[in-house]
Amino acid sequence: MKQTCMNQACMKRACVNLDQTKLDRQPSRLLEEVDRRNTNCLKWDELGKRFGDPDLIAMWVADMDFKAPRPVLDAMHARVEHGAFGYLMPSPEWKNAFIHWEMTRYGYRVEPEWIRYTPGVVPAVYWLVNALTEPGDACIILTPVYYPFHHAIRDTGRSLICCDLVNERGSYHMDFEKFEQDIILNRVKLFILCSPHNPVGRVWSREELERLRAICDLHGVTILSDEIHQDIVTGERRHTPTGLVAGDARNLITLTSASKTFNLASLENSLLVIQDAEIREKYDAFVRKYHPGGGNALGFVAVEAAYRHGEQWLEELLAEIRGNEVLIRESFAISLPEAVISPLEGTYLLWIDLRALLPETALTDFMVKSCGVAVDYGSWFGESGKGFIRLNLATPRHRVEEVTERILAAADTLRKETNMP
Ligand SMILES: Cc1ncc(COP(=O)(O)O)c(C=O)c1O
Repeated sequence: MKQTCMNQACMKRACVNLDQTKLDRQPSRLLEEVDRRNTNCLKWDELGKRFGDPDLIAMWVADMDFKAPRPVLDAMHARVEHGAFGYLMPSPEWKNAFIHWEMTRYGYRVEPEWIRYTPGVVPAVYWLVNALTEPGDACIILTPVYYPFHHAIRDTGRSLICCDLVNERGSYHMDFEKFEQDIILNRVKLFILCSPHNPVGRVWSREELERLRAICDLHGVTILSDEIHQDIVTGERRHTPTGLVAGDARNLITLTSASKTFNLASLENSLLVIQDAEIREKYDAFVRKYHPGGGNALGFVAVEAAYRHGEQWLEELLAEIRGNEVLIRESFAISLPEAVISPLEGTYLLWIDLRALLPETALTDFMVKSCGVAVDYGSWFGESGKGFIRLNLATPRHRVEEVTERILAAADTLRKETNMP
């Protein structure tokens, strides 16, 4: 990695000392940092292949550098000790733990028969696109958005309609008129909603969700509401499950998981909520035909334990993410004011517009060679993401400090090289 010209003392000064901010910082008791290198970890062990440098600091891939909550590990240990891993079924306890979580956190009453197990949200998105639409049908997304949504529509031979969110100095909102026009003009059949929204960090309000549902109901569009980030809400606005908003149950399927909240992604255990009996039958028929199978024992055990005993751990995680955000926001405000950082209402993914600092074509070299940091590039999320980066904040404070220092130092060098003020 090319070193920037800033010396250590200078770099230290660039990064705000969090103790000087208004944020109360209690040391976390429950979050345990873990070195994930050499575990076939996508985020850390693929850096060489994906970014050309294995020594970068990994701030891409939306998972965490913390161990899952202790009660989850204990439950998994106990299951391993039991020792038999023959065929099984989704347990009523797994369903009940999720039902209880949704009710107590969101006031959303989910009936047991609405729930389906899937081995991940992304596989489920693919299955649902296949089950509910035909090749050539138009499917709409609000861009920039999580790139597997684009892939699921393109890979299955559907027609991809991108409706851009409106960006006002980093704050994003929906253009409902354009959304409806796009639906009408293209005869859209399916809408994949990201709620909260990865990567722009919005937690959609109840009013916004009501308007979306009303438009979709009017034009017979099915909503796949991906709520995998539902529990990672650090701002003022609370998450509203789309299923709580008035609308036609035939036009809604919710996808969610404990995997994002508790760092369990590779256990491949996610949930669908399908309120309408006919849609459930259609989905079940599709799964019987193309994806028979059941899930793994440890996934069910881990998810149940996380929903039952993970709340305190989650509170500490949210505090850590909030602190990480404040650190970056306040440091950038002083030393990199050209960067526009979107408000982080939800997700642990910070969306940063660097277009005023450097052209899009120079962004990769800047992040990899000058900063030594691996990020998700905004262009991966759609045209309107070009020139942006997405930083994963689900990592310990010391790493966020180092990344902040590196970016600020590299920006300083860049300004000097290009004679920017
Ligand atoms: C919006 C969204 N949906 C789904 C996923 C991944 O889901 P899964 O690992 O269950 O396939 C992610 C991961 O980053 C995501 O951000």
